[in-house]
Formats: sequence, C-alpha cells, structure tokens
Amino acid sequence: MLNSKRLHQDFPILTNSSQGEKLVYLDSAATSQKPQSIIDAITNYYQTSNANVHRGVHKLSDESTAIWQKSRETIASFFGAESLELILLRNTTEAINGIAYGWGDHNLLAGDIIVTTLMEHHSNFVVWQELAKRTGAKIEIVAVTENGELDLESLSEKLSLEKVKLLALTHVSNTLGTLNPITKIVRQARELNPNIRIVLDAAQSAPHLPINFKNLDVDFLAFSGHKMLGPMGSGGMLVRKELLSSGEMKPWLFGGGMIDSVAVEKTTYSSDLSERFTAGTPDVASAVGLAAACDYLNNLGMENVREHDEMLVQYALKKLIDLPELTVVGPRSNRVGSVAFLYNNVHAHDVAQILDSQNIAVRSGHHCTMPLHTAFSWPATVRASFNVYNTTEDIDALVLGLEKVKEVFRV
Ligand SMILES: Cc1ncc(COP(=O)(O)O)c(C=O)c1O
Repeated sequence: MLNSKRLHQDFPILTNSSQGEKLVYLDSAATSQKPQSIIDAITNYYQTSNANVHRGVHKLSDESTAIWQKSRETIASFFGAESLELILLRNTTEAINGIAYGWGDHNLLAGDIIVTTLMEHHSNFVVWQELAKRTGAKIEIVAVTENGELDLESLSEKLSLEKVKLLALTHVSNTLGTLNPITKIVRQARELNPNIRIVLDAAQSAPHLPINFKNLDVDFLAFSGHKMLGPMGSGGMLVRKELLSSGEMKPWLFGGGMIDSVAVEKTTYSSDLSERFTAGTPDVASAVGLAAACDYLNNLGMENVREHDEMLVQYALKKLIDLPELTVVGPRSNRVGSVAFLYNNVHAHDVAQILDSQNIAVRSGHHCTMPLHTAFSWPATVRASFNVYNTTEDIDALVLGLEKVKEVFRV
C-alpha cells in the first residue's frame, strides 16, 4: 500500500507555499505533477551532460548518446518492450498521428474498415477520420452501454464486418473511467481476423496499471509520459518489432539522424530500427525525465500504484454517489483514475470555478470526448482525477468544496 501522505512531500508544487492555501490537485488525467527527483534528473542532464547525440566524436556527445540509449532502455523495459520497439515522441496524440501516417497511409485502401469506439479521446478519433479521408477507408464506431461500458455485442458486430483492417481503442476512458477488458477484446479481434492491427491508447492506463506490451498482444501502444509523472513533452509509442523490421510500419518523419545514405538520386534509411524513427535531434532531457519517472514508479511498485488508485476511485465513487445533486457517470466497478459527474442545473464550468476558488483543481468540459458527451446529451461534466500523491483527504476536500456550489447556486 502506498503512503501517499509521505509521497506528497516528493512533489514540490503540492507543498509550495506560493500556492498559498494547500493545493488539492485533482486534474492528473490532464497532466500529473512531477516529483523533485525527476526535476533534478533533467536539471542534472543539462548541467553535466548536454550535447547532441550520435553525430559527435567528442566525449560529451558520447556521454549524452549513452544517456539517451539508457533512458530508452529504461522506458521500454517499464512497458515490457524491447528498446527498438520504442519511438519517443511528445505525447499520445503525436504517437497516434504517427501510426496513421507511418502505418495507415501505406496499408489501408478505399473500402477498408477502421473500428473505433464512442468513448475515444479526440486524439484517437479525429486522426482516424483524417486517415479515412486520405485513403477512402470507412470508420465503424462501437457503441457504449447506458452504464458507460463498451458494448461488447456492438464490438463483435463491427469486428465481424468484412475488410476490417484496424481496431483503435482506449485502455481506460478519460471521461467514464472505464477499464476496457482488453485481453478479451484482443483475443476476439485476432480470432475473427488474424490480420487485424490493433492500436491501444494507454494514455490513462499507463499512469495507474502495470503494462506489459508483449502480453497485451497489441500492435501499437500510445502513451503520454507527462501523465505518468514524467516531463511535459514526453510520450510516445511502442510498435511490435515485426511491423518495424518487415517495413509494414514506415518512417513518417524524415531528415537527419534516420538515414543510412543520402544521394541526389536516392536516399536509404537506417537499418537500426531505433534510429530509423528518430528524425532530427531527439529530446534527450525529456527522455531522461521520463526514465526517472519509470524508476520512481518501479520503486513504488505498479501493483501498489494500481491498488492505491482503486482505493481512491472507490472512495470517491462512494462519497459522490451519495450526493443527491450529482449524477456520477461511468460504471461502478472496473474503473481507473478518475470520477466525472454532472451537477444538477449548474454548469460544469461554474462548479469548477467555485472549487478553484477553494484551491481545488478539477477539470470541466467535454474532456476531448465530444462524441460521447453528445451521445449521452451531457453539456459538460466535472472530472476529478488522481495520481499517487492524492489522498482520501483530497476527496473529502472536494466533497466539502461542492457544498459551496450548493450555497452559491441555492440548489
Ligand atoms: C485517453 C486519452 N487519449 C489521448 C489523450 C491525449 O494525450 P496527449 O494530450 O498527451 O497527447 C488523452 C489526454 O487526456 C487521453 O485521456
């Protein structure tokens, strides 16, 4: 079990007196706070080892290259993947775009089907709409049940259609909190269609659950390092190595660093798979920070992190469901990371503003899931989301803070 009260002390922004009153940070699904050790790792890299990688012959460049490679190994191993399967980018959005350009443009034809779901973040939705426009592929959308779970009958129906080439779905919904039964879904998808490719959006699962890329048996996994205690601008994707070595997944960013030879007539690309997908100067400091975040999480133990999250989510559900002025969205079990709700007759932005006036940071709006909000006729929802530093006291503060909304709006 985590000692989140002690962990709290590792996060300077949460103990910083410039925040005045104690900050209750309940917006970790948007981005997590960063422990001092990660801030120090980045500062230390710039103070002692900063140089461009690969292209130098001097010692500092060698040192920076070694740090870059070691950081990549740490991050890949955190996800149970090989280093060459890791492509570091800025976030989940960039990763999913990379899959569309590097895989989709080369492997989809007019009439092929992309299956995605109604609970996706815009990053795992709009990208496919654009790919469909470019290739002539069609999109089929899996429904969500009234209680906020993926409709597995609808999923089977869509996966049974002819010409399904891609399934792109989230591991955990950032609005409903739903944890999708990914093992069962992947097994079914592969039984129905052995050639299907599967993209897993792990933006909201990677911060809270142990992830093993190999065992998940998906082809692509996208994640945001900045949501899992790593620095802003850190994230990326894992790609099954067979897709890289066979050339099925191609580079989509071109330039220095990823080539083998360049001539006026023809360019060939690096046979080193980890280099082929890193065009230009990489963000070494972000990789260092993200590797430090992986170490920090490994030290806590991802099973403990998962247990802590389950405890907070269940505690929040219990407290919030009891409030008659709220409607909590999403399932009552099998959920991760957050709890979102509607406040009767008060707009989500007003609720968030009144909470902010009490130094409680939550998110309000559609959380980049407009199709889901539209389908359920929710104008907007308020979302409280958690990470390792949150405590049950933070949730008590939220419940108390909501009393003020009642006072102000007399509801
Ligand atoms: C499920 C999900 N997918 C994708 C994203 C996009 O992440 P990023 O903004 O880091 O690219 C988010 C962000 O909140 C998310 O929750």
